[in-house]
Amino acid sequence: MSEIETNVPLQTYNTFGIQAKALQLVRIQSAPQLLALLQAIPDKASQASEPKFVLGGGSNLVLTGDVKPLVLKVEIMGKRQVAETAKHFIVEAGAGEPWHDFVAWTLDHNMPGLENLALIPGTVGASPVQNIGAYGVELQDRFDSLDYIDLATGESKTLDAAACQFGYRDSVFKHALRDKALITHVRFALPKVWQREISYADLEKLSKKKNELQPTPSMVFDWVCHIRNAKLPDPKIDGNTGSFFKNPIVTPEQCKDIIGRDPNVAFYKLLDGNFKLAAAWLIDACGWKGRGVGNAGVHPNHALVLINKGRETGVPATGGEVMTLAKAIQTSVYERFGIRLEIEPVVL
Ligand code: EPU
Repeated sequence: MSEIETNVPLQTYNTFGIQAKALQLVRIQSAPQLLALLQAIPDKASQASEPKFVLGGGSNLVLTGDVKPLVLKVEIMGKRQVAETAKHFIVEAGAGEPWHDFVAWTLDHNMPGLENLALIPGTVGASPVQNIGAYGVELQDRFDSLDYIDLATGESKTLDAAACQFGYRDSVFKHALRDKALITHVRFALPKVWQREISYADLEKLSKKKNELQPTPSMVFDWVCHIRNAKLPDPKIDGNTGSFFKNPIVTPEQCKDIIGRDPNVAFYKLLDGNFKLAAAWLIDACGWKGRGVGNAGVHPNHALVLINKGRETGVPATGGEVMTLAKAIQTSVYERFGIRLEIEPVVL
């Protein structure tokens, strides 16, 4: 039987390092354990209505107060190769596995393909929720399928990529299945014939600088770690959730309007003809780098990352400070460029 813990401090369970408590928390170590827990709730009606919050690595989460829904902390472990097709190795990981360790494990077992996604904080179970992506690769490019448990009905289900409805930092788990599903296992299809992906500007630059035009998978892995370590704050020191806003996607007309306001704007053309603007550049242009509200600040090296400056001093930023800062940034970017920045992490 699952033990329900009460008043559990969450500061070490969210990478922002915000202080808050879970009024009730259960650690989920296996699918059968979760099913037993759901069945122990007496009738179907209350089972469906009891609000629950699924907590993975807490790397995409802003806590603005104590968490009242029952927190299901996912600690389902295990990594293995489960199948092989003509073109792919199929590997599976438990949702509670730390993402970066899983990436390193696939490389150690000669199954490359995830190296561009090295060092992304969080767990395997959270990775499809926001379709994590970095340096030219998105999770959906390597995804096979996943298993989840419907928290209302207790049914186990499997979804393929199409059913996950992946988009830019988006999936069905942010919409129709929000707070309704607990992902237990995720499977990845890793190509037997590996092709390096080093076209992202930072990787291309490093490749030229090192005069290494055909890096091995482990070199790409090391380069990605190096670039991230140089640019992005370590959540253990300066709490953060990675990029705090999504890069806005605009029409060609809107892009022209922004270029008219400032010709230096950073943008990329997408395959569908629209343009993706660098939110970091927009925030930087509004002068936010290094500024803040209370102990919440904008990282001095990367304007898209909000940080908790008080983690080491023992006076951590509150969720309220983080959200006040986020709203002030949204207002100034809107006033200057007419663009509404969308917050990326879940705000609870
Ligand atoms: N830039 C600035 N000022 C800054 C930082 C960046 O002007 O302070 C400009 C530069 O021109 C740079 C451009 O913004 O070329 C883009 O910056 P970067 O290459 O660092 O990428 P990003 O668009 O800010 C996205 C993802 C990151 C991912 C990187 C690398 C989103 C919301 N963020 O960041 O993902 O690691 O690309 O692929 O799509 C995350 O989602 O948490 C995350 C870290």
